[in-house]
Amino acid sequence: MTVKHKNKSEPKFLGLDLSTQSLTAIICGLRKKDTQRFSVIFDKQFPNYNTKGGVLQNKDPSIVHASPIMWMEALEYILQKIKKTGAVKKIRAISVSAQQHGTVYFNQKVRLVLKNLDPSKSFLDQMSKVFSRQTSPVWMDLSTSSECYEITEQLGDDLCVAELTGSVATERFAGPQIRKFYKESPTRYHQTEHILFISSFLTSLLTGKIEAVDSGDGFGSNLANVRTCKWNPKALSAVAPNLYRKLPQIVCGDQQVGFVSQYLVDRYGFRADAIVNVGSGDNPNSIVGLGMIGKNSINAISLGTSDTYFGYMASLPIIRRTEGHIFGAADGKYMFLVCHKNGSLTREHIKNSYGLTWRQFAEILNTTSPGNSGKIMLPFLTPEITPHVPKPGIHRFGGLEINDPSDNVRGVVEGQLMSMYIHSAWIGKRPNEIIITAGGSKNSGILKLISMIFNVTVRTFEIEDSAALGAAIRAAYLWLRMKNKDISWQKLFIEIIGKRITKTIRPTQSETNVYHGQSGLINLYRYCENHVVNGNNLSKTEFENFRKRYG
Ligand code: XUL
Repeated sequence: MTVKHKNKSEPKFLGLDLSTQSLTAIICGLRKKDTQRFSVIFDKQFPNYNTKGGVLQNKDPSIVHASPIMWMEALEYILQKIKKTGAVKKIRAISVSAQQHGTVYFNQKVRLVLKNLDPSKSFLDQMSKVFSRQTSPVWMDLSTSSECYEITEQLGDDLCVAELTGSVATERFAGPQIRKFYKESPTRYHQTEHILFISSFLTSLLTGKIEAVDSGDGFGSNLANVRTCKWNPKALSAVAPNLYRKLPQIVCGDQQVGFVSQYLVDRYGFRADAIVNVGSGDNPNSIVGLGMIGKNSINAISLGTSDTYFGYMASLPIIRRTEGHIFGAADGKYMFLVCHKNGSLTREHIKNSYGLTWRQFAEILNTTSPGNSGKIMLPFLTPEITPHVPKPGIHRFGGLEINDPSDNVRGVVEGQLMSMYIHSAWIGKRPNEIIITAGGSKNSGILKLISMIFNVTVRTFEIEDSAALGAAIRAAYLWLRMKNKDISWQKLFIEIIGKRITKTIRPTQSETNVYHGQSGLINLYRYCENHVVNGNNLSKTEFENFRKRYG
């Protein structure tokens, strides 16, 4: 079915994505090439919060928080921009996407304040007193190892926790973070009336009431049973007392939570009948924004602040595993995800250390030999999530010289991608295609390397903001569904996006040979990782054998 709408009343859909470093809005229509984009970068626009890369600085690098008040100010800023476009009056539905796992803490005042917002004043002017915790732990926080241990003890072992909640107890997840808050500040925990995920916080600001979280974001908490899509009483009591009544409701897949608040209508000019979808995480939104709902043969890599490898799953994996995560998808099914914390900021650190531009960085990747003559880097500039490396450090092996820019540029990217390849093996069948998204997708050298290391066809899209776009498409899908218009996710994606592929890259056999097989670089990387992570011995023979074959 082609969805046709004529003239001025043509409906528009708004997707908002609150990432680590910025807030982006995409407004789309039901026709191709009909998108508008607005974005605000936190460090630049709001220097008074003193953030670096969108997060607050802490002496302890494992503690990473951000300011929910700054996020509110960013929302205000973007809504002002949208107000100035003619599009605001045409927006029929809104969906939120947000960085996952972070939590926002409110006292008992929040419900009333949200309900009675005065349109002559900003969110900021009216909501500064509703927080029971001024900062929010975000996904980069790795300070809850002991809480993870305690939760695992309560629930059995790693396999049991992963089987129940979709992931082993994970430092950045809401459950361990809430437990830490409860242990360190029990009084403030008890004074906390609502604990929201970042996606449900933003959605609540749009509707003026406390809103649910979806299974896409809610499963990233170690608190829900991924089979029943309900908060699990045993998991909740392993975290903190009375937690159930503080959490938002959890819902499986997309559904309308309400309409925009009167505040949004009066202050920003939204239509009173604009519907609001349940919010979700940036990764579940990207699955939609990349057209992957329902498709198993295509996976994606997002090269952003974190590097993530993810894909759609029609059913839960059969194997018992401790690696990776399972979250919900917009259609009520599932997705898998592997997250590496050392993403773009680590690549940037190497680029800056040698005074290079991004163009020079890409050129090095395009002109040096695959395999780096067996020189390997494990680039854990900050504590790493996958593999679990609590102590940061950049490790160089096989004669990789610290003062050689080329070796280090190739080393950092090959190291990151080989790690991603190894730690996504649990998913089973490898895809035919990988779509690359976010900032790093502009770098042709990285794209070529992904094709070689994953031995697949690599594609990029014209649109980089896959999460914001996914949120806009979710809004459109919800609106069409509410109007009883029957359209598939795939069809809607093509209607809105078209086939905007910018690049397709395929590796040659000789290029992939360098990485794969018994004597390939991936195996060599595996030895190095075992050495760093598990303290295993490293023998020189492996490096010598590699060099004999590939120079
Ligand atoms: C996923 C994860 C990150 C954040 C930030 O588990 O931690 O991808 O969602 O984007």
